[in-house]
Amino acid sequence: MALRQIVYLPEPILRKKARPVTQFDKDLQTLIDDMIETMREAPGVGLAAPQINLPMQLAVVEYAEGEDEEMEEDAPPPQKKLFVLINPEITKVSDEKVMGIEGCLSIPGLVGEVERHEAIQVKALNRHGKPVKLKVDGWMARIFQHEIDHLHGVLFTDRATRVWKPTEEEETPLD
Ligand code: NI
Repeated sequence: MALRQIVYLPEPILRKKARPVTQFDKDLQTLIDDMIETMREAPGVGLAAPQINLPMQLAVVEYAEGEDEEMEEDAPPPQKKLFVLINPEITKVSDEKVMGIEGCLSIPGLVGEVERHEAIQVKALNRHGKPVKLKVDGWMARIFQHEIDHLHGVLFTDRATRVWKPTEEEETPLD
């Protein structure tokens, strides 16, 4: 496995629509493992292929629900869930929308307040090319929407109602 170089704005690839993945070969498996490693090292809660300069409809997400909430002292740490999204499509969205603060590994030093659907359903392929349907809500739904936007050349700053430089206390998961 190897770390991949993350690209930053104004790198043009971040504004391009990614192409569907069609080959589920060994190279793809290596790429996926590299993306997971790169996301963890950053550290981030998601990473889309355009962020490592590849115009492919591929993203990885890893997040533990409840990670940012106050935990009871002796409670077990929240379990992280890892998703590999290939050619993802949002098939259903909740009417309910929620505001949250987002950052992005490709836009260092900025965060923004973004409205997202509270819950979504997604149709995608897993790393072996098998179709999967996923239902996610809360922060996981927010991360999915952020990553799927990346595959269409859309960045959180396009959707944000306001954008600012965070203070040190304002920690935001990046994707
Ligand atoms: Ni991002």
